Amino acid sequence: MDSILVTGGGELNGQIPIAGAKNACLTLMPATLLSDEPLTLTNAPRLSDIKTMTELLQSLGAEVTSLQDGKVLAMSSHNIHNHTADYDIVRKMRASILVLGPMLARDGHAVVSLPGGCAIGARPVDLHLKALEALGAELELKDGYIHAKAPGGLKGGTVNFPLVSVGATENVLMAATLAKGTTVINNAAREPEIVDLADCLCKMGAQIDGAGTSTITVQGVDRLHGATHSVVTDRIELGTYMLAPAFCGGEVELLGGRIDLVEAFCEKLDAAGISVEETENGLKVARRNGRIQAVDVTTEPFPGFPTDLQAQMMALLCTASGTSVLEEKIFENRFMHAPELIRMGAQIDVHGGTATVTGVDKLKGAPVMATDLRASVSLILAGLAAEGETVVSRVYHLDRGYEHVVGKLSAVGAKIERIKGQ
Ligand code: UD1
Repeated sequence: MDSILVTGGGELNGQIPIAGAKNACLTLMPATLLSDEPLTLTNAPRLSDIKTMTELLQSLGAEVTSLQDGKVLAMSSHNIHNHTADYDIVRKMRASILVLGPMLARDGHAVVSLPGGCAIGARPVDLHLKALEALGAELELKDGYIHAKAPGGLKGGTVNFPLVSVGATENVLMAATLAKGTTVINNAAREPEIVDLADCLCKMGAQIDGAGTSTITVQGVDRLHGATHSVVTDRIELGTYMLAPAFCGGEVELLGGRIDLVEAFCEKLDAAGISVEETENGLKVARRNGRIQAVDVTTEPFPGFPTDLQAQMMALLCTASGTSVLEEKIFENRFMHAPELIRMGAQIDVHGGTATVTGVDKLKGAPVMATDLRASVSLILAGLAAEGETVVSRVYHLDRGYEHVVGKLSAVGAKIERIKGQ
């Protein structure tokens, strides 16, 4: 198994291009199932999660062709011959559940494996299922699979989410585009990835109002047609690399970065002593003079501070002046990076969903283990600012969500290399 060797020290200067959003692409790809005509995605990220979704769609009979070194995905679902999403693929990636709504809307039946456990908490799919039931789906859980039917087709209905779920909003939004009549989704997720999905669906002929607000209204149509859509910028990759000069000093421009994608995050950066400036091509980030200041952070659904940037922010605050309190409100058990940061000399106390971080002068390099996608990149960032060498193992987590991480960081002066097969 590969690992990543990071040697701390040295400022970072230059530009980092930000890719298309993994989480947007993972919901845009299943949208191909809603039409017999081709759907082409441009600005796709080159990630192992995208390969897993490709494999899943192909197993159903969709054609997925990766062009321009993976940046363009040309898809067609004119020949869907299998309606079962198998456990062997679904267990690799939770987002596989996103084929359920589209398959059901298209052909009135679908069988999808339950995703199973996940390193960052229980992550059930009950909200996805209840939302589809509100559209008339009949569901049965059998042998670890969700068996879904809508004999006369899905019908518009009202969905009232008791809590905000990105995936469940996406699943029911896709299903509602082909349901008969009007669907109203209350307490919908407002993430930019939802807006991007709705934009793409509208290009395909869907009638959607209110994406990006808490109430989305969908007027069902008989069929959707083909479209070409460019995947929105990855706000989590953006936020992650915005932290690189915050850890190391220097000035880095994030190409394609947009402030509206990371507003709550930027407020915390400002309070911590990091300046963010809009440029013609993106965002420029630099650490102001002096030490990073402690800040308190609470994760929330968009437009709040994203849970997917919590680990990286915690790593930064490990060397801040003062004590920071981080509250994780989206997922239980999402502090697995804390023990690894402690191995590097951090002072962190975790109690339930709250982590208290007391800043130390410097972290020290150590062998550490990636436990999930965002945790792994937080350890790399911590290693860049630590004294000595840090070896991050289990980097397959990283490959799920960050393309060319070694290339992008070395281009701005980081001492980082991938070590094969350890
Ligand atoms: C998506 C993102 C993930 C991000 C998360 C929150 C993708 C592929 N992944 O995950 O990177 O961290 O949003 O921003 O887009 N819940 C239930 N029942 C359900 C569904 C969710 O109880 O049926 C709970 C979850 O356990 C969690 C909360 O709702 O506590 C929010 O989860 P959700 O927004 O659904 O996250 P995902 O869509 O899985």
